[in-house]
Amino acid sequence: MEKTLVLIKPDAFKSHHTGDIIKRYEDEGLQLLAMRMMMMTKAVAAKHYEEHIGRPYYAELESFMTSGPIVAMVLAGDNAIAKVRELNGKTDPKEAAPGTIRQLYAESKGCNAVHASDSPVSAEREIHIFFNEAEIFD
Ligand code: PPS
Repeated sequence: MEKTLVLIKPDAFKSHHTGDIIKRYEDEGLQLLAMRMMMMTKAVAAKHYEEHIGRPYYAELESFMTSGPIVAMVLAGDNAIAKVRELNGKTDPKEAAPGTIRQLYAESKGCNAVHASDSPVSAEREIHIFFNEAEIFD
């Protein structure tokens, strides 16, 4: 079973879509292995988004991701990384397919409801920013 890290971002948390989003994943057969509600600090943002530091949107991304509670989770299943990214839809909700989480719940490319790992290497790195092995129930 493949694992992936998902973050429900402050916009989706604030608009009470946390349960809707988790249900979408569970309905598709993805299994929750770990979950935590937390505030993302600037230090955690810098680790998680390290490849984006220096990009023109980084300050906006950091400010948004530290603006309110997020929900971090580890999901698992066959092809979990691709499956979750398909359910999430494209980064920009204007380009996201109908029925995807971002098309339903996101406002903009910055405030886009969810994050998900984009490769096995990223998943391994990102999961361990948020969870230690004892917190992952696999
Ligand atoms: S890439 O590398 O440019 O293709 O990545 P992309 O998927 O477009 O975006 C990477 C993450 O940066 C966020 N992003 C932004 N945040 C704030 N403002 C602007 N303009 C902006 N553009 C991109 C985007 O939401 C992605 O966050 P994650 O959490 O990875 O989905």
